Amino acid sequence: MSIYFGCPGKQKSHNLEVKTMKRILMRNLVSVLGLGMALAVLYSAHSTKAVTEKNGSQKDVSAAALFDKHCDTCHGKDGQAKTFKAKFNHARNLTDAKWQSEVSDERLFNSISNGKGKMPAWRKKLSEAQINSLVAYVRSLKK
Ligand code: HEC
Repeated sequence: MSIYFGCPGKQKSHNLEVKTMKRILMRNLVSVLGLGMALAVLYSAHSTKAVTEKNGSQKDVSAAALFDKHCDTCHGKDGQAKTFKAKFNHARNLTDAKWQSEVSDERLFNSISNGKGKMPAWRKKLSEAQINSLVAYVRSLKK
């Protein structure tokens, strides 16, 4: 008797288990798919970067992309350091013509490589060529 009454209950919880399993599987499937897509995007970004770096005429484009990726959080898209985070970190206004005329390319290169004040050092994340192209990009921001 007890077996007979036990079964439907068990059946129910079994169904519930299957449902949860399915849900978990689906969720994992979605995250695996998402990861795959993210990797694909990363990979294609990586390969286009390699192409633009080889292609000298598009150097500015990749420097702008680097700036957007690593620098604009603190310096702002236009380099004017007007955002809240920029003000909070005392980031430099890179467009300032007076300041631009006072600093050498070497100094910019060193500051970007080694960091300055609250700015982190970039030499481990970026290559020398990338930092050089960022120096040129910073020069192009001058107003
Ligand atoms: C975490 C915020 C932050 C990020 C991200 C950041 N900077 Fe800075 N940057 C600063 C701050 C703060 C200063 C001012 C440092 C000082 O003068 O004390 C500064 C100063 C500079 C200067 C002037 C240095 C000098 O010698 O006067 C340059 C050039 C510069 N940043 C370029 C960049 C570039 C290029 C990137 C991206 C690779 C970048 N920054 C990313 C915060 C940041």
